[in-house]
Amino acid sequence: MTAEDKTRLATLLDMSGDFLRDEHWREREAPAFEDDAADHAAQTAMEVGGDSLETIAAEVCGCRACGLCDLRILPVPGEGVQQPLLLVIGEAPGSEEDERGKPFVGVAGQLLDRMLASIHLSRATNCFITNTVKCRPPGNRDPSPDETAACARFLARQMRILRPAYILCVGRIAAQTMLHTSEGIGRLRGKFFDYTPDYQPDNAGDAPAIPLIATYHPSALLRDASLKRPAWEDLKTLLARLQI
Ligand code: URA
Repeated sequence: MTAEDKTRLATLLDMSGDFLRDEHWREREAPAFEDDAADHAAQTAMEVGGDSLETIAAEVCGCRACGLCDLRILPVPGEGVQQPLLLVIGEAPGSEEDERGKPFVGVAGQLLDRMLASIHLSRATNCFITNTVKCRPPGNRDPSPDETAACARFLARQMRILRPAYILCVGRIAAQTMLHTSEGIGRLRGKFFDYTPDYQPDNAGDAPAIPLIATYHPSALLRDASLKRPAWEDLKTLLARLQI
């Protein structure tokens, strides 16, 4: 069993108690597990049109397209499986992500992992997690439109390789960026949109639209527990569509 499987099992057991008490995701430390020997599947690099996630990650690390490069410790390209069932898009790295170079590893990230686990999803098995902006904005401020625009090409290239079946935007910034709207998250969440990728597919014709749903950012759930129930409704809407 991989560490991720063990975490997922522990989370599901733990959550079943929460559900009986109607407290969907209590904030708590996730237990640390190790993989069983030889059970850690190595990711094989996949190339699409000469591009790969590794190439993009290397370019993100060398990117100086906006001022965030002067302030970051580590850029955070993203992590997860190739050809994911779900691409999760957040806003931008926070301080722990900046220190570790991985997306959603702080307290909000642990909550995101539990939210995903509650609908049979994880970055180790069927998701890829990234952000609209790959470097940390100082003081966790919102990324500026210029910073978001400078980073958009990386996400577009990642999507061309990943070909996710579904997209989940967590939080206002991700939803507004992907849907090109200034509508608030309260109105955008909980329903499906057709996201039209801006990459060209390998064959002739347009890339097929990808169903996209948005929900509240896990940080918002940590600040305001009343958002947990609508977020859970959003996850159930997503799960019904995923049919897993
Ligand atoms: N918040 C985000 O939006 N992304 C991260 O990677 C971490 C926190």
